[in-house]
Amino acid sequence: MIRWIPLFFALLLLPALAASDDAARHDRAPEPRDEQPGGDFTLQSSRGEFALKQFRGRVVLLYFGYTKCPDVCPTSLAVLAQALGELSDDDLKMVQGVFVSVDPDRDSFQVLDDYVSYFHPNLIGVTGTAAELAEVAALYGVEYGKVDLADSAFGYAVDHTSTTYLITPEGDLRFMFPHQTPSFVILEAIRYVLTADPSG
Ligand code: NI
Repeated sequence: MIRWIPLFFALLLLPALAASDDAARHDRAPEPRDEQPGGDFTLQSSRGEFALKQFRGRVVLLYFGYTKCPDVCPTSLAVLAQALGELSDDDLKMVQGVFVSVDPDRDSFQVLDDYVSYFHPNLIGVTGTAAELAEVAALYGVEYGKVDLADSAFGYAVDHTSTTYLITPEGDLRFMFPHQTPSFVILEAIRYVLTADPSG
C-alpha cells in the first residue's frame, strides 16, 4: 500500500503554495491515475547502466528534477541529505538516493555527479533519452516540461513534479513525500522500512 506522508503537513502547506503562482505551478503533485505508480526502470549514469532492480535489499529514495533548478530541487535534495545524514553508517549501506534528471540536454553525467555529490555521497545522478525519461516519469506519475525564460541566462526552466518516492528493499513504492516534507518525517520512514519485516 502506498501512503502519502504527511497529509497533515501537506494541508498545512497549501495556503503557502497558493500564495505564489510560480511555486504552485512548480510544486505539482503527481497526477491521479488509475494504475498504481512505481515499478522498475533502467536509465544511465556515469557508472554505466542504472537499473533500479540492482538496488533490491536497499531502501531507494527517488526524485525527479534537474541541476539548474533554482530552488525546488536544491531544497528537496537538501532535506533528503539531512535525513541521510542522521542515519548510522550501517543504515547508510542500506539506503540509496537516486536523482533522475529530466533535463538530459544540459545535465551531462559529469554535471550530474558534481551536483548530487554536493548534497550526499549516497546520491547517484541518472538520466536517459527523452523517450526513456518519459517512460520512467509515466511509471511514477511524474510530469515535467520546459518553460521558456525570456530574460534569463538559463534559457529555460523545467517545471516538474517535486515528490520524493520511497521504494522498499523489496522494490515496492511505499511512500510519496510531497515537496517540503520535513527531513525527520523522511528519516522516520526510512528507519521504519529498514526495520520492517518484509513478510509483514
Ligand atoms: Ni527542481
